[in-house]
Amino acid sequence: MKRVALLGATGSIGRQAIEIVEAHPELELCAAASGSTSLDDVDAALKQVGGDLTELLERAQPDVVLNAVVGFAGIHATLWALERGVDLALANKESLVAAGELALAARARGAGRLLPVDSEHSALHQCLEGRSAEQVDSLVLTGSGGPFRGRTRDELVDAVPDEALAHPTWRMGPKITVDSATLANKGLELIEAHFLFDIPYDRIEVVLQPTSIVHSLVRFRDGATLAHLGYPDMRVPISYALTYPERAATPLPPLDLTSLTLSFESPDVETFHMLALARAAGERGGTYPCAYNAANEVAVAAFLAGRLPFLGIAEVVTDALERADGAPARDVADLVECDRRTRANVGERLPVA
Ligand SMILES: NC(=O)c1ccc[n+]([C@@H]2O[C@H](COP(=O)([O-])OP(=O)(O)OC[C@H]3O[C@@H](n4cnc5c(N)ncnc54)[C@H](OP(=O)(O)O)[C@@H]3O)[C@@H](O)[C@H]2O)c1
Repeated sequence: MKRVALLGATGSIGRQAIEIVEAHPELELCAAASGSTSLDDVDAALKQVGGDLTELLERAQPDVVLNAVVGFAGIHATLWALERGVDLALANKESLVAAGELALAARARGAGRLLPVDSEHSALHQCLEGRSAEQVDSLVLTGSGGPFRGRTRDELVDAVPDEALAHPTWRMGPKITVDSATLANKGLELIEAHFLFDIPYDRIEVVLQPTSIVHSLVRFRDGATLAHLGYPDMRVPISYALTYPERAATPLPPLDLTSLTLSFESPDVETFHMLALARAAGERGGTYPCAYNAANEVAVAAFLAGRLPFLGIAEVVTDALERADGAPARDVADLVECDRRTRANVGERLPVA
């Protein structure tokens, strides 16, 4: 029996995770948490709406933490699991992006498993399994390109939230869906991949694969490239992370190869500047990724609230990064302070509602 603590149980990942847990008698929900939505319909031994997630984890003492909280709010839970060597199934990419080196140090001390739930990183994890780092030439992260793929800047001036939320291949929560439209999601994933797999940024490429069938690829030094294919359905990477290394069955149909269209293209990093900004923030290191994430969270919320135009998201993040000092974080308090300061700076510059 594996006891799972599910953080973010009311979200898109959380709901699908509950489906996986219910389908597998060897999995049990020992704890569930949300930010403010009721958990009355969730069957878990311990439940918590709001409050300190690490207190819940202390009480629950799970075998695995599935962190499916959205945003920086998940950081303490991520560090809690890594520090204690409790298996961490990580959907909350923002926490790894923001914590970076501190998360890696906690992981080294705790020596537990860090299993990515993001479909691209789950794919990379599977392609890399059993290979040493020196065999790897480069990682290729794929992305659909989101609802605005192919549009020019002029065509994005008036883009509204409803258009940004109409993702062509994935059904996800609002924040990550807007991140997919700006390519900030791919930017966060680039930084996430760097920390998960210890590969330098200049050896992580991003390509668009509009039907979201190829979830990512690894190029090896001998010229072989391994790809991971599957229908876009998060139940697969969630199940992989929760049942690792068993690869339990899911209800998905087998991939029908003859019906697939597979094409690849380069992302337009001039129009979708958030990807280039993430790469620059990652390469500069320190707390630049934390500042990138914080500014993006505030900008996305403002866009969804109708206070900021779509193209304003990248402008706000550019400005925030120019004003950040990027000083390395000594501890989690430094990260919290960087996050707080960045949010306050961005908030001051946003147009008044
Ligand atoms: N959705 C996907 O397909 C997908 C794919 C890959 C990666 N991810 C990543 O997975 C994470 C979750 O994404 P999502 O799409 O599932 O988001 P979502 O649908 O917006 O759900 C977010 C969840 O986080 C909870 N939450 C927010 N703040 C919290 C806090 N302070 N304490 C406890 N819980 C809190 C929410 O609770 P309330 O309901 O109370 O607000 C909700 O349960 C994100 O980091 C995202 O990037 C998602």
